[in-house]
Amino acid sequence: MAQQVATNVTWHEHKVSKADRAKKNGHKGALLWFTGLSGAGKSTVANTVDHLLNEMGKHTMVLDGDNIRMGLNKNLGFSPEDRSENIRRIGEVGKLFVEAGVITTTAFISPYRADRDMVRSILAPGEFVEIYTKASVDTCEKRDPKGLYKKARAGEIKEFTGISAPYEEPEKPELVLDSDSKGIDELAQEVVAYLKNNGYLEA
Ligand code: ADX
Repeated sequence: MAQQVATNVTWHEHKVSKADRAKKNGHKGALLWFTGLSGAGKSTVANTVDHLLNEMGKHTMVLDGDNIRMGLNKNLGFSPEDRSENIRRIGEVGKLFVEAGVITTTAFISPYRADRDMVRSILAPGEFVEIYTKASVDTCEKRDPKGLYKKARAGEIKEFTGISAPYEEPEKPELVLDSDSKGIDELAQEVVAYLKNNGYLEA
C-alpha cells in the first residue's frame, strides 16, 4: 500500500455522522465491489443494479473500469503495480462515496486478492460487499465484446487478465454470481435481494 508522504496533516472528524446521513437518505452507504474477468458482465450487472436501486429511490453511483481509466486513472497501465494503484485510488474514492451515504457499485477486474482485501480493510465492517462475477475464460472469450481476447491471443495485448496475466479468485466473497449460465437481469436481482435481506436498503 502507498505510504503517506505529507507530514503536518491532521484528521478532522465530520460534524454530520454516517448515521445522520443514513437517516436522511433512508438507507446506508455501501461499496458493491464487482470483480471478475473482462467480459464476465461486471459493468453490465453493476449498471443494472444501479438502475434498479435508483428506481427504488436509493442514492447510487457507478464507478466503472474503462471510464475511470479515461479520467482519474489515465496515467495507469496494466502492470501489477499500476493495477494495484488503480484499485487503491478507486477504493479511496469509493470510500468517500460511502461516507456520503451512497450505494456505490464498482466494476474493475481487480485481479489481485491483496488489493481487494486492502479496500475491504479501509471500510467499516459490512460496508464492502465483494461480488464475484464468475465466468470462465472460455465464456468470456466466446463473448469477447471488445475483441480484446482475440488481440490478446494474437499477442497484440500483453499482460491480459485470464490469458497472460493472473486472476486470483475471491476466497470469501459476499456473493458469487454465476455469469456462465445466468442472464444479466437475474444476476442483478440476486444482488438487490442480498442487499434487502441484509439490511442495506434501510437506515
Ligand atoms: S484492473 O485489472 O486494473 O482492475 P480495470 O478493470 O481497471 O483492470 O480495466 C480492465 C479493462 O481494461 C478491461 O475490461 C479491458 O477493456 C481493458 N484492458 C486493456 N488492456 C487490458 C489488459 N492487459 N488486461 C485486462 N484488461 C485490459
